[in-house]
Amino acid sequence: MEKMKLKVSNLQKIFPAANKKEKDLVALKDINLEVKESEFVVMVGPSGCGKSTLINIIGGLEEATAGSVEIDGMPVTGPGADRGMVFQGYSLFPWLTVQKNIEFGLKMKKMPKAERAAVAKEFIQLVGLAGFENALPKQLSGGMKQRVAIARTLANHPQILLMDEPFGALDAQTRVVMQELLAKISRETGNTVLFITHDIDEAILLADRIYVMSRRPGTIREVLPVTIEGERNHEILVHPEFLKMKRKIMEMLWQESQDAALDK
Ligand SMILES: Nc1ncnc2c1ncn2[C@@H]1O[C@H](COP(=O)(O)OP(=O)(O)OP(=O)(O)O)[C@@H](O)[C@H]1O
Ligand SMILES: [Mg+2]
Repeated sequence: MEKMKLKVSNLQKIFPAANKKEKDLVALKDINLEVKESEFVVMVGPSGCGKSTLINIIGGLEEATAGSVEIDGMPVTGPGADRGMVFQGYSLFPWLTVQKNIEFGLKMKKMPKAERAAVAKEFIQLVGLAGFENALPKQLSGGMKQRVAIARTLANHPQILLMDEPFGALDAQTRVVMQELLAKISRETGNTVLFITHDIDEAILLADRIYVMSRRPGTIREVLPVTIEGERNHEILVHPEFLKMKRKIMEMLWQESQDAALDK
């Protein structure tokens, strides 16, 4: 049997109202989600459906109102090195070089200097930034900065990678390059990934399985396996299977926004 890495059961999140005049906000309702070891799972859903809230709860940055999150069968109670998070903002230390940014977590873990330099080098290679070891973040493009953020997270060998719209701020071309890079790295290294986006192309290009969320209060509307054969790169964007799936997800999300507009 395949090993389960992450299991989210009956998760619910309610943000209490700020004052008596307002109502509590139900952000997530009955969320059940599983990610197997080495699986790449993508969540798509309309804006405000609770995607970031969900990944923040899994990351231990936010507390659930009800339900549970388990990694390898152990309940999550706060942030931990077993989960590596990558967000839309690059969150690099501006005063540290590429190399030192990637070494940061390893230094915290008290890894010896020579060893952490070697590990950082390995991940700089992996994300295609060789030659930029000594550059500062301000000298890099958006795509390069996000490569550093990914390398820094991977260098810490997290059990699971949690990514919340990591390519959201990039231009369309850089975005595809980064998607291809991530698809390649995750399949080569066997990383377990939970990735969030509202971009349907990105979801199908990257995912082994896609969870489609409903509008707020966010529930899981459908789970779709992606069975397109071959390498995951921009060529699959015109694959008949890809287009069929894209249409299906578009219709679901369109329906959700229609319902929202009519306040059904
Ligand atoms: N700290 C908070 N306090 C109160 N309400 C919140 C808080 N964080 C999020 N919300 C609300 O919860 C809902 C879900 O927000 P969330 O950021 O998870 O959505 P999202 O799916 O990530 O949206 P987007 O696609 O725009 O990033 C929204 O209605 C938002 O206003
Ligand atoms: Mg979000």
